[in-house]
Amino acid sequence: MSEQIQTIITKMTLEEKAALCTGLTWWTTTPVERLGVPELIFSDGPHGLRRAPEIHQETQESLPATCFPTASCSGSTWDVDLIREMGEALAEECIALNVDVLLGPGTNMKRSPLCGRNFEYFSEDPYLAGEMAASLINGMQSKGVGASLKHFAANNQEFQRFSISSEVDERTLREIYLPAFEKAVKKAKPWTVMCSYNKVNGTYASENVHLLTEILKKEWGFEGLVISDWGAVHDRVAALKGGLDLEMPGPQAWRVKAVVEAVRSGKLNESVLDESVRRILNIVFRAQETPKNGTFDVDAHHELAHKIASEGMVLLKNNGLLPLKGQHHIAVIGRSAETPHFQGGGSSHVNPTRVSVPFEEIKVHTGGAELSYAEGYPADNSFHQELIDEAVVLAQSAEVAVLLIALPPYTESEGYDRPDINLTVQQIELIKAVSKVQPRTVVVLNNGAPVAMDSWIDGVAAVLEGWMMGQAGGEAIADVLFGKINPCGKLAETFPIKLTDTPAYINWPGGAGVVRYGEGMFIGYRYYDAKKMPVQFPFGFGLSYTTFAYGNAKASKTTFKDVEGVMVTVDVTNTGKVAGKEIVQVYVHDQKSRLVRPEKELKGFAKVELQPGETKSVSIPLDFRAFAYYHPSYKQWITEDGDFDLLIAASAADIRQTLTVTLESTLSLPCILDKHSTIREWMDDPQGKIVFASFYEEIKAQSRKVFGNEDEDLEHKNTGGLDMLDMIGDMPLVSVLMFQQNELPRPAEEIVDELLMKVHLLGR
Ligand code: BGC
Repeated sequence: MSEQIQTIITKMTLEEKAALCTGLTWWTTTPVERLGVPELIFSDGPHGLRRAPEIHQETQESLPATCFPTASCSGSTWDVDLIREMGEALAEECIALNVDVLLGPGTNMKRSPLCGRNFEYFSEDPYLAGEMAASLINGMQSKGVGASLKHFAANNQEFQRFSISSEVDERTLREIYLPAFEKAVKKAKPWTVMCSYNKVNGTYASENVHLLTEILKKEWGFEGLVISDWGAVHDRVAALKGGLDLEMPGPQAWRVKAVVEAVRSGKLNESVLDESVRRILNIVFRAQETPKNGTFDVDAHHELAHKIASEGMVLLKNNGLLPLKGQHHIAVIGRSAETPHFQGGGSSHVNPTRVSVPFEEIKVHTGGAELSYAEGYPADNSFHQELIDEAVVLAQSAEVAVLLIALPPYTESEGYDRPDINLTVQQIELIKAVSKVQPRTVVVLNNGAPVAMDSWIDGVAAVLEGWMMGQAGGEAIADVLFGKINPCGKLAETFPIKLTDTPAYINWPGGAGVVRYGEGMFIGYRYYDAKKMPVQFPFGFGLSYTTFAYGNAKASKTTFKDVEGVMVTVDVTNTGKVAGKEIVQVYVHDQKSRLVRPEKELKGFAKVELQPGETKSVSIPLDFRAFAYYHPSYKQWITEDGDFDLLIAASAADIRQTLTVTLESTLSLPCILDKHSTIREWMDDPQGKIVFASFYEEIKAQSRKVFGNEDEDLEHKNTGGLDMLDMIGDMPLVSVLMFQQNELPRPAEEIVDELLMKVHLLGR
């Protein structure tokens, strides 16, 4: 193939090459008929296909396709096999509807619960998000349909999304905002990666050399094509130079012209264009290997959507009321019981093949019991006391009230963020009023991101987070409520008590073209851990109708080399009366490191199914990256010798077993000392420490008083309770010397230069 592509490139005119790098229509690339290059067809994404009936036109209406649960729900399954199946099913629909590349998954971090598109993203944690994205892509691509991993990168809000600059330091990028992309790229090799609209540190993602070329293509070895988000290109030539291969949508004749002129005038090297052409042709021809035709199994896919929804729902509170059993009269309250709310707004909006209605599905489970319905709240956020009064009367007359609460459908959407995390005033008053007269009240939430609950949660008996649950969500809700399915989802994001508690709160959403990621690496549980702040529900939390015990935790080695990693094994027992699934999480805590690190970080997990009384041994591998952190000065991931705690947990706040292991770093790091390095940095560098120690001895031998009283070694010197190293450790060596210039035979700078020279000689 590469030879065939090479031949085509040599036959292409400059105009044809430039045209290939910009779309022809909203969804298709430019074919080169005379050379047998067909078009490539895209469609949204990410949790269902939004295929325009006439692919060469942009229409609002799309062909019917399965609306799978949004990532808010599928992310909470923590089930990589299930999400792989979802990927396969999405690909089958692409094949049936003639689509080559599906625009998804989205794997941006949930920096704030306010981001309008959070429902399209998996998690606040990069490890979990990366695993889920990789599995979905692997599923899709195993069937010969391409994925588009989006939106690369640091696109964590909708406010000014076309122009804002996400100001984020390199370490935070590497440790929080990039790893989910990195994992998906390395593990699943997506055919395409979609750059985001925003700028990152002042440069549009669409022309960002650092992101697209240095990191994505060179460091991570991405071989596919980089596509623009729709309309994300501002300067076509700069974008090509930055590593953006394909601009979408088209047509954009003037962009093609600009590229041709840039090559002719020497502003753009033709080899840069050729490289993008090569990448695009690779994917165009790969797509041809999958014949597109036929139909997809509508029923089977609906059933899969049902399964994913039931595994992604999270039982947040249950005082024993659930599962429902033996009631004679159930009041079902809330308009989303009749008008299901199962997806968000924007480009991900799917025209579902069918929709299950929660009220009807609940009916299936209730046998002969009386089931009554009250609307409870309107479609918008207006207030109607009479709807509350009606619901209260109904709830009082029933044995149980099931409240289905969905935010007004326009609240969560692409294009804008939420102003707050509250339910509507009507919904809050409704929950309070109903639960006051009917303590046996269950609240089922339908939303794509956390909502505040502190004003009403104490009054209700149970809360089920149903998310934006896809077209089959109604069945899943009923199955969970009545115990046909034992809930097994766990939160992929923290539920805060209130908005002002959230990590990005004071920097959100920015202004004057800039949003500062001031909280750095501390988003989600990393932030709440660091602040020791209570939350409504922690990351990784979810209840079951059974209970699980953890025991016998072991590490494969107590001392290990970073490159070899370590295997954690733990026995999990179902100690309840019904079968269930548990999600075992492993967090890593570094006991001591030179740079600040989060208190703990998720580095492995496994979902295990257990019959009552059954025990299974779960093994979770931890590799180099589980222990490493990105050091901005070394510009690489590094490990440090030392002890790490492995926290085996049922949630970020429920550590069941702790192991301590000792890591031996195999890295030999380059020396990064320079003229301005501090004394402590000298002491931390292996060669620096040797050179500095001999210089210190020399000073002592000459009884010079440069570092105070030179009669002991500096590390152990104690001057009246004050450690000398504490006092001067964070001063540049050169500054300490300059203060004592009279004691020195040569200028301080010269001495430091000499010492640096010695360090470099030693390092050879
Ligand atoms: C969205 C993308 C989407 C594209 C095509 C953009 O506005 O940000 O996620 O894939 O449109 O519809």
